[in-house]
Amino acid sequence: MRLLAPSLLFSAAVASPLIERAAKPIYWLLAGDSTTAPGGGWGDGFLSTTVASGSTGHNYGHSGATTASFRAGGDWGKVITDIGTYKSKYDVYTTIQFGHNDQKETSGVTLDQYKANLLKFAQEVTSAGGQPILVTPLTRRNFQSDGKVLENLATQRNITIQVATSNNIKWIDLNIASENYVNAIGKTAASQYNLASNDWTHLNTWGGVVFARIVSDLLVEKYPSNFQAYTKPNATLSALIKAGKPA
Ligand SMILES: *[C@@H]1O[C@H](CO)[C@@H](O)[C@H](O)[C@H]1NC(C)=O
Ligand SMILES: *[C@@H]1O[C@H](CO)[C@@H](O)[C@H](O)[C@H]1NC(C)=O
Repeated sequence: MRLLAPSLLFSAAVASPLIERAAKPIYWLLAGDSTTAPGGGWGDGFLSTTVASGSTGHNYGHSGATTASFRAGGDWGKVITDIGTYKSKYDVYTTIQFGHNDQKETSGVTLDQYKANLLKFAQEVTSAGGQPILVTPLTRRNFQSDGKVLENLATQRNITIQVATSNNIKWIDLNIASENYVNAIGKTAASQYNLASNDWTHLNTWGGVVFARIVSDLLVEKYPSNFQAYTKPNATLSALIKAGKPA
């Protein structure tokens, strides 16, 4: 009898993915371009300020990356390798955020290819034992004369959402959330997040923290059972964002 109880407990835990899932912290893999990457994106701020103790991750964002070059240059292979490495100890989530470079006329990536590449990334994450999250591209912060930012990633946003919704993939709308926020705070306040004074695309360190909080809040609000327990909140910052006030 003494041996029976622990072995029953063990088999119950193995048999129930829900119990097993709830006990695992998260390993975050961040795939994307410079707006995710170290030194200009939200990824490092995400890992250092929104991830609760016990969970961790790696920022694979790559400056200049398109959905094609990210694979061709070897970054994607590292993401897939890491899923294999970490999936036994963690739930491995991979954020996928592209568009700023794919959309350039010189990128060599058509809209159809952009769409197909996003889907292939997500499918490969799932096959490797991870969970993909499609993220619509962070807004640029170029204000027009009407005081609003120029929305020039709407097509990429639409495609990203289409891929997610038609394939039952988790997704968050960072494009609209970030656009609404910078429109609410206005040009002068938004300029405080610029990596350099005239760089309205990339984020300085504090900008990275603020936009990472937007990412985190979107995830927790949309998928609380997956993310709430593994997130370090900052109620002050989240409230400022929600109120459309400069942080
Ligand atoms: C995005 O999709 C919406 C409807 O889903 C459509 O009204 C809008 O025109 C689309 N915008 C672009 C730029 O594709
Ligand atoms: C939380 O957000 C507030 C407001 O932006 C900021 O001043 C503070 O440093 C943040 N706290 C932590 C622990 O990051």
